[in-house]
Amino acid sequence: MHIIHVVGARPNFMKVAPVLQALRAYPDITQHLVHTGQHYDAAMSEIFFQQLGLPEPDINLEVGSGSHAVQTAQVMLRFEETVLAQRPDLVLVYGDVNSTVAASLVCAKLGIRVGHVEAGLRSFDRTMPEEINRLVTDQIADLLFTPSADGDHNLLREGVDPAKIHLVGNVMIDTLVRLLPQAEAGWPTLRTRLGLGKRYGLVTLHRPSNVDEPAMLAQILKTLGELASELPLLFPIHPRTRRRIAEQGLDAQAACLQLCEPLGYLEFLALQAHAQLVISDSGGVQEETTYLRVPCLTVRANTERPVTVEVGSNQLVGQDMARLREAAENVLQGKFRSGAIPPLWDGQAGERIADILATNEQMN
Ligand code: UD1
Ligand code: UDP
Repeated sequence: MHIIHVVGARPNFMKVAPVLQALRAYPDITQHLVHTGQHYDAAMSEIFFQQLGLPEPDINLEVGSGSHAVQTAQVMLRFEETVLAQRPDLVLVYGDVNSTVAASLVCAKLGIRVGHVEAGLRSFDRTMPEEINRLVTDQIADLLFTPSADGDHNLLREGVDPAKIHLVGNVMIDTLVRLLPQAEAGWPTLRTRLGLGKRYGLVTLHRPSNVDEPAMLAQILKTLGELASELPLLFPIHPRTRRRIAEQGLDAQAACLQLCEPLGYLEFLALQAHAQLVISDSGGVQEETTYLRVPCLTVRANTERPVTVEVGSNQLVGQDMARLREAAENVLQGKFRSGAIPPLWDGQAGERIADILATNEQMN
């Protein structure tokens, strides 16, 4: 069996690593890795290949940035050539980014089977570009690997054939479990390098609903600035957000925060593990803080990862700055629930996927 993995953006790299690794145990399976080039800065791509031990991509489609239509179309045009040349038996796509839906569409039209890792997540908010990507990808995928039972329920409700759905657990957590000891080993040096004391909070923001709206971004930065007088806040800035801060002339509002470039996986993981508080709108960070049982305040009205709120340490504060302040105060006073780790978030999801793929192949 010949499998092509397609990745493109930062959160895809943590998800593909355990699947690639687990499939190495099956000598009859040949694997190739395609990078669409959706993310291309070294700090958003290359560093993860090094830190996660990923092989160099066999092909980089180098699509770069663009509007949704341009980026999606470029991936489709370029990936179609790859698929026609290589004729894989299966293409595995990850998460919910534009590269995910674009590669899935190409395969569906060429009659190539698609497997979606992290299937079934729903925010029920179609203004989010990722929600459209999830809905379309899941409708056309042949194998759907879900991280939690809510994913199965969502897919069944949408009429997906139950035989295609496999509850395997969370691949993002596989990578965390594998690399946490290494992240911890580097922590003393990292803390000194960043000049952090014992208490600090960690911030990431990149959702268009938070950072593309100038008034919203200004309000968030103002609130974070106020919180920073009680707890130093480290903010590794996503390139989208950095651009918006510069365009809107909001540098002064961000001056009370400790800003830095996006960090490597190991550094960011150690920082999450030791933070008093994480404030974020990232999907992956909601999951990682849940595993680490570190309080996470998510600056969004909804989440496609409800298990992190129901079971884990995540709290949705919406885009309401009074709620963010109040929730942060509570955490600082020790009033928060550290939660529990959801079922199957155990470091073995990649192995489960590999096992299903190998069994599936024998049945074909
Ligand atoms: C994308 C995903 C989002 C995911 C996020 C992870 C979609 C629709 N969005 O959002 O789901 O949560 O990645 O980080 O697929 N840029 C750079 N260098 C880079 C990459 C991007 O400077 O290496 C800048 C460009 O100005 C670009 C902007 O960031 O226009 C946005 O990049 P894009 O990939 O379109 O979306 P993200 O916001 O990164
Ligand atoms: N991450 C990282 N460095 C950073 C910020 C995040 O390595 O400076 C990691 C984080 O630990 C998680 C992943 O990036 O593994 C989440 O990706 P992102 O927030 O870009 O996307 P999302 O999960 O929201 O789609």
